[in-house]
Amino acid sequence: MESPKFLYLQTFGCQMNVSDSEKIASLLAGVGYQLTEESTAADLIILNTCTVRAKAEEKVYRQLENLRPLKRKKPSLLFGVGGCVAQQEGERLLEKVPYLDLVFGTHNLHRIPQIVLAAEEGRRLSETDFIDNETRLGLFPSDDQPGGVTRFVTVMQGCDNYCSYCIVPYVRGREISRRSADIIAEISQMAANGVKEITLLGQNVNSYGLNDPDQPDFAGLLRMVSDIVGIERIRFTTSHPKDITRPLIDCFAQLPKLCGHIHLPAQAGSSAVLARMNRGYTRQDYLDKVAALRAARPDIAITSDIIVGFPGESEADFAETLSLVEETRYTDIFSFIYSKRPGTAAAEFDGDLPYDLKLERLDRLAEVQKKITREFNKAQVGSVQKVLVERASRRPGQIFGRSSYNQIVNFDGDISLVGSLADVEIIEGYQNSLLGRLVTGH
Ligand code: SAH
Ligand code: SF4
Ligand code: F3S
Repeated sequence: MESPKFLYLQTFGCQMNVSDSEKIASLLAGVGYQLTEESTAADLIILNTCTVRAKAEEKVYRQLENLRPLKRKKPSLLFGVGGCVAQQEGERLLEKVPYLDLVFGTHNLHRIPQIVLAAEEGRRLSETDFIDNETRLGLFPSDDQPGGVTRFVTVMQGCDNYCSYCIVPYVRGREISRRSADIIAEISQMAANGVKEITLLGQNVNSYGLNDPDQPDFAGLLRMVSDIVGIERIRFTTSHPKDITRPLIDCFAQLPKLCGHIHLPAQAGSSAVLARMNRGYTRQDYLDKVAALRAARPDIAITSDIIVGFPGESEADFAETLSLVEETRYTDIFSFIYSKRPGTAAAEFDGDLPYDLKLERLDRLAEVQKKITREFNKAQVGSVQKVLVERASRRPGQIFGRSSYNQIVNFDGDISLVGSLADVEIIEGYQNSLLGRLVTGH
């Protein structure tokens, strides 16, 4: 029998890459590779990469350099790069990094076994062509892992929005929605395996079905998922504010399984900046959607992504971002300094700001949000919430789960509770998590 080969797989970037990495691991298991946590044990090292900001891209080259000595020790070791940097650079990557053995793009996961087998024979391949939709439909990452408590399910991929700062449409290609029947079959199987919570995943998840008259819209899909027996909670990410429709808002009022949280990236608070970002909504449109969501689910927790230092962002524009954050009272935000990406529209815009100013705005924004998050977390104290228990906490004796609002809750309890929806009284609100106490006798 052949001795096993080991794969060290490192994933950068968003949940879509995490999901793709599961697929890569399972495809390579088919040609004899077992996952290892030890880079030193590897016969093949694959970096599944992100290029959303310049720093993410730089990290890939740095990591390749860090790993390079392993190859000197073991010349048969193969290096591969997949994901969004691979898609962006293609063949050029093999020239830039002479010790790299293989490159595969975001549409070429299914080809990875052949590409690796070719590399084993000394051929250096780069496959980064986008493929047609019909073929892609058959290739969506499907679940072949048995269980867990909470799972992500990809329902659409790609993005057609072309926000002026963003490279994702260029590296992920056009939007495509998976067939609802396939999604429902997969989730039903997961439910049968004991999965309790599903997060529907897509670069622009709430435009699901819009290009395909044979599929339901996103609200329709949510209703279908909600009918699956055994699934107790539903989440989705990431939504675009322009695709928050009335039927989707109604789901928050009508579907008890749909969690009380939405990640709804605003990006900026000034309508002038939003227009230059090509976001397709104004500040007021955004606030109206927030109000409608709150009317449907008064306690809904809203999180956001915010970019500071977009070209031409004035102090007054930035003040509007701060006031949007205060008005919306996000439970949390991810905030980023604008990063110029090659090939995007904004890369050609005038008005680049000095780095120090961008940094200062990032800090000011973080201060404002930190206070709101702390206040929100403190306000939870005394409430009793349903917590889906996911696993043991780092602290011995404690278990870890999430509230409907997607907040982390730690509390004393036995790991036999994993997979159950426990009633937990919140007794402490910290900056990044809550401490609870199991309520018994319910
Ligand atoms: N709709 C996507 C967003 C992906 S990128 C999704 O499914 O998550 C995640 C976030 O990165 C964006 O919301 C945006 O806030 C940020 N981002 C994207 N391009 C950026 C850039 N060039 N500079 C800084 N931040 C950026
Ligand atoms: Fe990028 Fe905008 Fe598409 Fe999100 S919606 S992936 S920010 S282009
Ligand atoms: Fe990064 Fe690609 Fe996701 S650029 S954020 S890994 S879609």
